[in-house]
Amino acid sequence: MSLAIISPGRDPKVWIEALRYHQPEIDIQVYPEIDRPEAVEMALLWQHPPGYLKTFPNLKLISSLGAGVDHILSDPAVGDALPIVRIVDEKLTWSMTNYVIMGVLNFHRQFLRYYHDQHAKTWDMTNPEIPVKVGVMGVGALGGDVLSKLDGLGFEVVGFGFSEKKDFNYPYFQKDQLEEFLSQVNVLVCLLPLTPETEGILNLSLFKKCSKGTYLINVARGKHLNEADLLTALNEEMLSGALLDVYQQEPLPISHPFWEEKRIQLTPHIASVTNPKAAAPQIIENYKRLIASLPLLNLVNRTRGY
Ligand code: GLV
Repeated sequence: MSLAIISPGRDPKVWIEALRYHQPEIDIQVYPEIDRPEAVEMALLWQHPPGYLKTFPNLKLISSLGAGVDHILSDPAVGDALPIVRIVDEKLTWSMTNYVIMGVLNFHRQFLRYYHDQHAKTWDMTNPEIPVKVGVMGVGALGGDVLSKLDGLGFEVVGFGFSEKKDFNYPYFQKDQLEEFLSQVNVLVCLLPLTPETEGILNLSLFKKCSKGTYLINVARGKHLNEADLLTALNEEMLSGALLDVYQQEPLPISHPFWEEKRIQLTPHIASVTNPKAAAPQIIENYKRLIASLPLLNLVNRTRGY
Protein backbone atom coordinates (compact mmCIF):
# COMPACT_ATOMS: atom_id res chain seq x y z
CA MET A 1 0.00 0.00 0.00
CA SER A 2 1.30 3.34 -1.00
CA LEU A 3 0.38 6.88 0.03
CA ALA A 4 0.51 9.57 -2.65
CA ILE A 5 1.25 13.24 -1.94
CA ILE A 6 -0.24 15.38 -4.68
CA SER A 7 0.40 19.03 -3.93
CA PRO A 8 1.85 20.70 -7.04
CA GLY A 9 4.28 23.55 -6.48
CA ARG A 10 4.90 22.79 -2.81
CA ASP A 11 8.00 21.16 -1.40
CA PRO A 12 6.86 17.73 -0.12
CA LYS A 13 10.02 17.16 1.99
CA VAL A 14 8.58 18.43 5.28
CA TRP A 15 5.48 16.30 4.79
CA ILE A 16 7.50 13.16 4.04
CA GLU A 17 9.67 13.74 7.11
CA ALA A 18 6.68 14.37 9.36
CA LEU A 19 4.80 11.29 8.11
CA ARG A 20 7.86 9.01 8.34
CA TYR A 21 8.51 10.21 11.88
CA HIS A 22 5.24 8.54 12.90
CA GLN A 23 5.33 5.62 10.43
CA PRO A 24 8.95 4.94 9.34
CA GLU A 25 8.03 2.08 6.98
CA ILE A 26 5.41 3.98 5.01
CA ASP A 27 5.64 3.81 1.20
CA ILE A 28 5.23 7.37 -0.09
CA GLN A 29 5.03 8.41 -3.74
CA VAL A 30 5.10 12.08 -4.67
CA TYR A 31 3.43 13.78 -7.64
CA PRO A 32 4.54 14.13 -10.42
CA GLU A 33 6.91 11.14 -9.96
CA ILE A 34 4.28 8.53 -9.24
CA ASP A 35 5.32 5.40 -11.14
CA ARG A 36 3.27 2.76 -9.27
CA PRO A 37 -0.25 4.21 -9.39
CA GLU A 38 -1.90 0.85 -8.78
CA ALA A 39 -0.24 0.69 -5.31
CA VAL A 40 -1.79 3.98 -4.17
CA GLU A 41 -4.62 3.49 -1.67
CA MET A 42 -4.51 6.85 0.10
CA ALA A 43 -3.94 10.27 -1.48
CA LEU A 44 -3.04 13.52 0.30
CA LEU A 45 -4.24 16.40 -1.82
CA TRP A 46 -3.76 20.13 -2.09
CA GLN A 47 -4.82 21.75 -5.38
CA HIS A 48 -4.30 18.52 -7.33
CA PRO A 49 -4.67 18.55 -11.14
CA PRO A 50 -8.39 17.92 -11.82
CA GLY A 51 -9.04 14.45 -13.19
CA TYR A 52 -5.70 13.11 -11.94
CA LEU A 53 -7.24 10.75 -9.38
CA LYS A 54 -8.52 8.58 -12.23
CA THR A 55 -4.92 7.33 -12.44
CA PHE A 56 -5.39 5.34 -9.22
CA PRO A 57 -7.51 2.20 -9.71
CA ASN A 58 -7.15 1.14 -6.05
CA LEU A 59 -7.62 4.45 -4.27
CA LYS A 60 -9.60 4.01 -1.04
CA LEU A 61 -9.18 7.28 0.88
CA ILE A 62 -8.61 10.94 0.09
CA SER A 63 -7.21 13.32 2.68
CA SER A 64 -7.05 17.07 2.30
CA LEU A 65 -3.77 18.64 3.40
CA GLY A 66 -5.77 21.47 4.92
CA ALA A 67 -9.02 22.25 6.69
CA GLY A 68 -10.93 22.91 3.46
CA VAL A 69 -12.05 20.25 0.99
CA ASP A 70 -13.61 22.48 -1.68
CA HIS A 71 -10.50 21.95 -3.87
CA ILE A 72 -11.29 18.21 -3.81
CA LEU A 73 -15.08 18.32 -4.17
CA SER A 74 -14.89 20.69 -7.13
CA ASP A 75 -13.21 17.95 -9.20
CA PRO A 76 -15.95 15.79 -10.81
CA ALA A 77 -13.42 12.95 -11.18
CA VAL A 78 -13.43 12.53 -7.40
CA GLY A 79 -16.89 10.93 -7.59
CA ASP A 80 -19.23 10.25 -4.68
CA ALA A 81 -17.98 6.96 -3.39
CA LEU A 82 -14.58 7.59 -1.79
CA PRO A 83 -14.34 8.80 1.80
CA ILE A 84 -12.67 12.20 2.24
CA VAL A 85 -11.03 13.36 5.46
CA ARG A 86 -9.70 16.79 6.35
CA ILE A 87 -7.32 18.29 8.87
CA VAL A 88 -8.76 19.45 12.16
CA ASP A 89 -5.86 20.58 14.25
CA GLU A 90 -5.38 22.77 17.30
CA LYS A 91 -2.43 24.58 15.76
CA LEU A 92 -4.43 25.38 12.62
CA THR A 93 -7.30 26.65 14.76
CA TRP A 94 -4.94 28.66 16.99
CA SER A 95 -3.36 30.43 14.00
CA MET A 96 -6.73 31.21 12.45
CA THR A 97 -8.17 32.57 15.67
CA ASN A 98 -5.11 34.75 16.26
CA TYR A 99 -5.37 36.16 12.76
CA VAL A 100 -9.04 37.04 13.21
CA ILE A 101 -8.36 38.55 16.64
CA MET A 102 -5.65 40.68 15.05
CA GLY A 103 -8.18 41.90 12.45
CA VAL A 104 -10.85 42.65 15.05
CA LEU A 105 -8.39 44.52 17.27
CA ASN A 106 -6.94 46.47 14.36
CA PHE A 107 -10.44 47.68 13.51
CA HIS A 108 -11.49 48.27 17.11
CA ARG A 109 -8.29 50.19 17.98
CA GLN A 110 -7.88 51.62 14.44
CA PHE A 111 -4.33 50.56 13.93
CA LEU A 112 -4.34 51.62 10.29
CA ARG A 113 -5.52 55.12 11.16
CA TYR A 114 -2.70 55.61 13.68
CA TYR A 115 -0.21 54.13 11.24
CA HIS A 116 -1.15 56.84 8.71
CA ASP A 117 -1.32 59.51 11.45
CA GLN A 118 2.24 58.69 12.49
CA HIS A 119 3.48 59.08 8.92
CA ALA A 120 1.63 62.39 8.59
CA LYS A 121 2.86 63.50 12.11
CA THR A 122 -0.79 63.99 13.10
CA TRP A 123 -1.83 64.00 16.78
CA ASP A 124 -5.53 63.11 16.79
CA MET A 125 -7.02 61.83 20.04
CA THR A 126 -10.66 61.73 18.91
CA ASN A 127 -12.69 58.50 19.04
CA PRO A 128 -9.88 56.13 19.93
CA GLU A 129 -12.03 53.00 20.14
CA ILE A 130 -14.75 51.84 17.75
CA PRO A 131 -17.41 49.85 19.62
CA VAL A 132 -17.43 46.37 18.15
CA LYS A 133 -19.87 43.48 17.96
CA VAL A 134 -18.56 40.57 15.96
CA GLY A 135 -20.61 38.23 13.80
CA VAL A 136 -18.94 34.99 12.75
CA MET A 137 -20.34 33.19 9.71
CA GLY A 138 -19.47 29.51 10.06
CA VAL A 139 -19.29 28.18 13.59
CA GLY A 140 -17.46 24.86 13.14
CA ALA A 141 -14.05 24.03 14.63
CA LEU A 142 -12.52 27.34 13.48
CA GLY A 143 -15.49 29.69 13.87
CA GLY A 144 -16.39 28.21 17.26
CA ASP A 145 -12.90 28.89 18.58
CA VAL A 146 -12.93 32.46 17.21
CA LEU A 147 -16.24 33.10 19.00
CA SER A 148 -15.08 31.81 22.35
CA LYS A 149 -11.68 33.59 22.29
CA LEU A 150 -13.25 36.92 21.26
CA ASP A 151 -15.84 36.44 23.98
CA GLY A 152 -12.97 35.82 26.40
CA LEU A 153 -11.46 39.14 25.35
CA GLY A 154 -14.71 40.87 26.25
CA PHE A 155 -16.21 41.33 22.79
CA GLU A 156 -19.88 40.75 22.12
CA VAL A 157 -20.20 37.91 19.61
CA VAL A 158 -22.90 36.18 17.59
CA GLY A 159 -22.77 33.28 15.16
CA PHE A 160 -24.39 32.42 11.84
CA GLY A 161 -24.53 29.10 10.05
CA PHE A 162 -26.49 26.79 7.81
CA SER A 163 -27.00 23.87 10.16
CA GLU A 164 -29.16 23.68 13.24
CA LYS A 165 -27.30 24.08 16.56
CA LYS A 166 -28.61 22.93 19.88
CA ASP A 167 -27.16 24.28 23.14
CA PHE A 168 -24.92 26.74 21.35
CA ASN A 169 -23.04 29.03 23.77
CA TYR A 170 -23.71 32.22 21.82
CA PRO A 171 -26.65 33.79 20.01
CA TYR A 172 -26.93 31.84 16.77
CA PHE A 173 -28.73 32.72 13.55
CA GLN A 174 -29.64 30.45 10.66
CA LYS A 175 -30.02 31.11 6.94
CA ASP A 176 -33.48 32.66 7.10
CA GLN A 177 -32.27 35.02 9.87
CA LEU A 178 -29.37 36.49 7.90
CA GLU A 179 -30.79 40.00 7.96
CA GLU A 180 -31.29 40.00 11.72
CA PHE A 181 -27.76 38.62 12.21
CA LEU A 182 -26.21 41.32 10.00
CA SER A 183 -28.14 44.13 11.68
CA GLN A 184 -26.61 43.20 15.04
CA VAL A 185 -22.92 43.32 14.14
CA ASN A 186 -20.34 45.72 12.75
CA VAL A 187 -17.52 43.24 12.20
CA LEU A 188 -18.32 40.35 9.91
CA VAL A 189 -15.99 37.35 9.84
CA CYS A 190 -16.42 34.74 7.10
CA LEU A 191 -15.27 31.26 8.11
CA LEU A 192 -17.86 29.30 6.16
CA PRO A 193 -16.94 26.19 4.22
CA LEU A 194 -17.16 26.73 0.46
CA THR A 195 -20.22 24.88 -0.83
CA PRO A 196 -22.69 25.62 -3.64
CA GLU A 197 -24.86 27.26 -0.96
CA THR A 198 -22.14 29.58 0.36
CA GLU A 199 -20.35 30.47 -2.89
CA GLY A 200 -20.73 34.20 -3.57
CA ILE A 201 -22.57 34.78 -0.28
CA LEU A 202 -20.56 37.97 0.38
CA ASN A 203 -22.25 40.06 -2.29
CA LEU A 204 -23.93 43.42 -2.71
CA SER A 205 -27.32 42.21 -1.53
CA LEU A 206 -25.70 41.04 1.75
CA PHE A 207 -23.59 44.22 2.10
CA LYS A 208 -26.77 46.30 1.72
CA LYS A 209 -28.18 44.55 4.78
CA CYS A 210 -25.07 45.22 6.91
CA SER A 211 -25.00 47.98 9.54
CA LYS A 212 -23.37 51.01 7.97
CA GLY A 213 -19.59 50.95 8.30
CA THR A 214 -19.29 47.19 8.87
CA TYR A 215 -15.77 45.81 8.64
CA LEU A 216 -15.35 42.55 6.71
CA ILE A 217 -12.80 39.85 7.46
CA ASN A 218 -12.71 37.01 4.89
CA VAL A 219 -10.46 34.14 5.89
CA ALA A 220 -12.49 31.35 4.27
CA ARG A 221 -12.29 31.16 0.49
CA GLY A 222 -12.01 33.75 -2.26
CA LYS A 223 -15.10 32.34 -3.93
CA HIS A 224 -17.27 33.40 -1.00
CA LEU A 225 -16.73 37.01 -2.02
CA ASN A 226 -17.97 38.89 -5.06
CA GLU A 227 -14.89 41.10 -5.37
CA ALA A 228 -16.48 43.81 -7.55
CA ASP A 229 -19.37 44.03 -5.06
CA LEU A 230 -16.91 44.63 -2.23
CA LEU A 231 -15.43 47.62 -4.06
CA THR A 232 -18.95 48.99 -4.65
CA ALA A 233 -19.86 48.47 -0.98
CA LEU A 234 -16.71 50.36 0.09
CA ASN A 235 -17.30 53.19 -2.36
CA GLU A 236 -20.92 53.53 -1.26
CA GLU A 237 -19.81 53.39 2.40
CA MET A 238 -21.87 50.35 3.26
CA LEU A 239 -18.64 48.83 4.51
CA SER A 240 -15.76 50.78 6.05
CA GLY A 241 -12.96 48.37 5.25
CA ALA A 242 -11.90 44.78 4.83
CA LEU A 243 -9.17 42.40 5.81
CA LEU A 244 -8.76 39.68 3.20
CA ASP A 245 -6.60 36.57 3.14
CA VAL A 246 -8.22 34.74 0.20
CA TYR A 247 -9.12 35.70 -3.37
CA GLN A 248 -10.97 34.48 -6.45
CA GLN A 249 -7.60 34.05 -8.13
CA GLU A 250 -4.44 33.23 -6.16
CA PRO A 251 -1.81 34.61 -6.32
CA LEU A 252 -3.77 37.86 -6.57
CA PRO A 253 -3.03 39.23 -10.07
CA ILE A 254 -0.77 42.31 -10.15
CA SER A 255 -3.47 44.28 -11.98
CA HIS A 256 -6.12 43.56 -9.32
CA PRO A 257 -7.69 46.72 -7.82
CA PHE A 258 -7.45 45.31 -4.26
CA TRP A 259 -3.68 46.02 -4.19
CA GLU A 260 -4.31 49.77 -4.43
CA GLU A 261 -7.43 50.02 -2.28
CA LYS A 262 -6.51 51.79 0.98
CA ARG A 263 -9.55 50.46 2.85
CA ILE A 264 -8.50 46.88 2.16
CA GLN A 265 -5.67 45.18 4.01
CA LEU A 266 -4.59 41.99 2.37
CA THR A 267 -2.41 38.99 3.15
CA PRO A 268 -1.45 36.15 0.78
CA HIS A 269 -3.55 33.20 2.09
CA ILE A 270 -1.40 32.79 5.21
CA ALA A 271 -4.00 33.19 7.96
CA SER A 272 -3.64 29.55 8.90
CA VAL A 273 -1.30 27.23 7.06
CA THR A 274 -1.27 23.53 7.93
CA ASN A 275 1.76 22.59 9.96
CA PRO A 276 2.99 19.17 8.72
CA LYS A 277 4.36 18.19 12.17
CA ALA A 278 1.04 18.97 13.80
CA ALA A 279 -1.10 17.32 11.11
CA ALA A 280 0.99 14.16 10.51
CA PRO A 281 -0.31 12.17 13.53
CA GLN A 282 -3.95 12.36 12.35
CA ILE A 283 -2.98 11.50 8.76
CA ILE A 284 -1.06 8.46 9.94
CA GLU A 285 -3.90 7.53 12.29
CA ASN A 286 -6.29 7.56 9.32
CA TYR A 287 -3.81 5.56 7.24
CA LYS A 288 -3.79 2.90 9.99
CA ARG A 289 -7.57 3.03 10.36
CA LEU A 290 -7.94 2.55 6.62
CA ILE A 291 -5.81 -0.61 6.80
CA ALA A 292 -7.73 -1.88 9.83
CA SER A 293 -11.16 -0.84 8.38
CA LEU A 294 -11.86 1.32 11.44
CA PRO A 295 -13.94 4.55 11.48
CA LEU A 296 -11.95 7.48 10.08
CA LEU A 297 -11.11 10.73 11.87
CA ASN A 298 -12.47 14.07 10.61
CA LEU A 299 -14.56 12.47 7.91
CA VAL A 300 -16.24 14.93 5.56
CA ASN A 301 -20.01 14.72 5.24
CA ARG A 302 -20.42 14.54 1.46
CA THR A 303 -23.99 15.82 1.56
CA ARG A 304 -23.07 18.95 3.56
CA GLY A 305 -19.79 19.39 1.67
CA TYR A 306 -17.58 19.84 4.78
C1 GLV B 1 -6.48 26.54 4.16
O1 GLV B 1 -6.96 27.35 3.45
C2 GLV B 1 -7.08 25.30 4.58
O2 GLV B 1 -8.16 24.92 4.09
O3 GLV B 1 -6.47 24.62 5.42
